[in-house]
Amino acid sequence: MSEFRTKSVISEQPEPKVAQCCAAERLAGFTNFTAALAVLVVLVAVAVHAQDKYSLVSPGGIAFSDFRGYGDWPAVSSAHQDEILKVIVANPKMIAAYKAGVPGNGQPFPEGSMIVKLQWQQKKSTEAQFAVDVPDIFKQVFVMEKDSKRFPKTGGWGYAVFNYDAASDKFTPDPKSLSDCGNACHTAVKAKDYIFHPYQKR
Ligand code: HEM
Repeated sequence: MSEFRTKSVISEQPEPKVAQCCAAERLAGFTNFTAALAVLVVLVAVAVHAQDKYSLVSPGGIAFSDFRGYGDWPAVSSAHQDEILKVIVANPKMIAAYKAGVPGNGQPFPEGSMIVKLQWQQKKSTEAQFAVDVPDIFKQVFVMEKDSKRFPKTGGWGYAVFNYDAASDKFTPDPKSLSDCGNACHTAVKAKDYIFHPYQKR
């Protein structure tokens, strides 16, 4: 009898504290794991969605990656046409040549020179105290690179255009922009090594 009582008392005792504690810890661990998994899924989705524009190659075989960092290159000049604002930048090698007097000194730009024309759709500023057009949506990147071995038929310059679509935040190579664009490209300024813009005083 006494043996039976002892057993019964034992079976009515509450769950040991150790067991309660571990269940709570397991739940917390599961919640942390789920949150971490959700963050990982979001990061992977963003990474998959984000475009590496420098992986693009034009139909004429010009790699956008040749112009890596163009956003930080010094300005050469600017231009304005209808609804488009343009800024022209060049790589340090070409800037150095400009400063040394090319093309006015009769010398061509050196191999490896690169020049880029950035184009924005423009809008009227609603903030300035006077009428002024300012950049709105970014539209296009025009690129030229000097490599006489690759582009012998166009004065040593290769040409390409990369279009930007703001809605999808993606660049695409312009299907019509061939690296060797024959007589259509810049022959009017052949005497200036095919470059329209002089380096502007600042
Ligand atoms: C894929 C084709 C083309 C590319 C990649 C291209 C690229 C460029 C670049 C980088 C500039 C600024 C540097 C410079 O002064 O030369 C420029 C300027 C210029 N290009 Fe071209 N070009 C292309 C075709 C043409 C064609 C076909 C014409 C005319 C028939 C033209 C006319 C001009 C003019 C007038 C400028 C100076 C004014 C401006 O900024 O618009 N381009 N181009």
